[in-house]
Amino acid sequence: MCGIVGYVGSKNAQSILLEGLHRLEYRGYDSAGIVTFQDGDACLLRVKGKVAGLDSLVNDSHRDDSIGIGHTRWATHGEPSERNAHPHNVGDIFLVHNGIIENYKDLKSVLETRGYSFVSETDTEVLTALVDSIYQQDKNLFAAVSEALHMVVGAYGIAVVAKDNMDEVVVARSGSPLVIGVGEGETFIASDPSALVGNTNQVIFLKDGEVAKCTRDGVTVKDSADQAVEPIVETIEMDIQAMQKKGFDHFLVKEIFDQPESLSATLAGRVVKDQDLLRLGGLNMSEEELRAVKHIFIVACGTASYASMMASYYIERFADDVVIDTVVASELRYRSFNVPENSLAIFVSQSGETADTIACLKEMKQRGVRCLGVVNAVGSTIAREVDGGIYIHAGAEISVASTKGFTSQVVALVLFGLVMAQAKGMSIEDVRPYIDELDALPEEIAAVLDTKNEEVKQLAADYSQYEHAFYIGRDILYPLALEGALKLKETSYIHVEGQPAGELKHGSIALIDDRFFEVAFVMDNELFEKSMSNIIEVQARGGHVIVVTNSSREIEAERVVRIESRLKMFTPLLFNVVSQLFAYYVAVNRGNDVDQPRNLAKSVTVE
Ligand code: M6R
Repeated sequence: MCGIVGYVGSKNAQSILLEGLHRLEYRGYDSAGIVTFQDGDACLLRVKGKVAGLDSLVNDSHRDDSIGIGHTRWATHGEPSERNAHPHNVGDIFLVHNGIIENYKDLKSVLETRGYSFVSETDTEVLTALVDSIYQQDKNLFAAVSEALHMVVGAYGIAVVAKDNMDEVVVARSGSPLVIGVGEGETFIASDPSALVGNTNQVIFLKDGEVAKCTRDGVTVKDSADQAVEPIVETIEMDIQAMQKKGFDHFLVKEIFDQPESLSATLAGRVVKDQDLLRLGGLNMSEEELRAVKHIFIVACGTASYASMMASYYIERFADDVVIDTVVASELRYRSFNVPENSLAIFVSQSGETADTIACLKEMKQRGVRCLGVVNAVGSTIAREVDGGIYIHAGAEISVASTKGFTSQVVALVLFGLVMAQAKGMSIEDVRPYIDELDALPEEIAAVLDTKNEEVKQLAADYSQYEHAFYIGRDILYPLALEGALKLKETSYIHVEGQPAGELKHGSIALIDDRFFEVAFVMDNELFEKSMSNIIEVQARGGHVIVVTNSSREIEAERVVRIESRLKMFTPLLFNVVSQLFAYYVAVNRGNDVDQPRNLAKSVTVE
């Protein structure tokens, strides 16, 4: 949520900052700004709206500026506007900030008594003034930032420059990510390593509570107790290809079409069909420890929570001595929940930076629970804080709506379940059908993309004008209905609800009339007839039903999308591809900003 960039070196800071902000824009996009300097002369550019608005403001007179910071914002305090955009400037200090300063009102009152006045509605301007008030005492930026942060309650990732110090960008983090890129005679700063690609692959991931001074010659880090820390420089592999649209109109559709490849990467080396082998390298759990597991909390938000729920339906089928609690992180963190003996907690997050999920991870660690991560972003906070886990290796996911992340999360969790079940005695005969289907899944997804794209595009054209919809499914298709509904609502702004098909008649069916369409997921199994009854109930009330099914049986519905596949267990992930394409094309038809839907941001690093 919000993106930060910074630079100190000898090159054109404006173009480096703008390039970084364009890459980070998926994190927040309601306003943006940069400030660069030459000999203390500041060039502050801020706009309401997207980073593109800054491109036209850049002027030749600041081409030689070689230090600066920038920001793309997702508003927390104060409406999106130029006045509330970052960087904020108070006195000598310019500052950009991700996160929330909870005690900003108290700090503001104190600062007002010292003569500071404020022009924006933001907590960030207060923090800027706080740093300035300390900086004025002895003009030591590193010390001033550290001291100010000792007075702050909340979450932050910040980058700070003083206009009379053209050699330093000071950065800090607590609960909001920050990474420093180390170059030759230059140092880069970003809230996400994707902004550094092409500049350097040598990075320092700042830890919570650390403050760093970044200069042209290197980086000095200290911890929250003001003790010097030796920074660890790591090499990161990032694929610039994954950050480009590869000829697609939007990242969303590119990422939907990425799935055969991204899922193959999730499976690579983990499912070895010709050896009947499943293996997961990073769990850091012995067979005995896996055998002992009796209770699993799977903790996540949004799409990741639906992926977790779907995976739990699978795992329950073969790990019958384990109880699984799939919980939404923002709820769990304030619940007074019990942790049964032999519990394990798994944190599922594409970004690895979701604040609510991280808060639950901290709580579980404090209670002594072993914690695993299922994460996409390498080096992210969750990936670094867990005891072990599984990288899903889906590649950069840029579109705000998560698609390939979901598919790989489900599969990674099922893999974990199978590895655990094998440790508990599941026979290879029982595991083999899963290995066969998982191995075939990327190709099966490719076939759906190939054969169904045009049909779904037309379907979307026919239903784009509706304002209300239900997604329904039974059993494992219920989490799919929730995910389908989320995908459609966040991209199209249609009012959509996901429901268990059997639950409609307990209240929600009262809503249905011919202004609604319903997407019903139906498997050709023992629940087929029951699902049909639910569909008939909806149609009897005027609802327009679209059925997505793998059945060749006769179905009476307004539209039927049939998926032909030899898969039995993982067909829901094929249905999901139809659902993703449908959401995409509806959003395009409605003229929406597909990759950056209104009010959203890619990773939710605030509560
Ligand atoms: O990065 P995470 O997987 O932790 O993100 C969780 C949710 O914020 C995310 O899935 C969100 O719901 C997306 N907008 C869904 O498309």
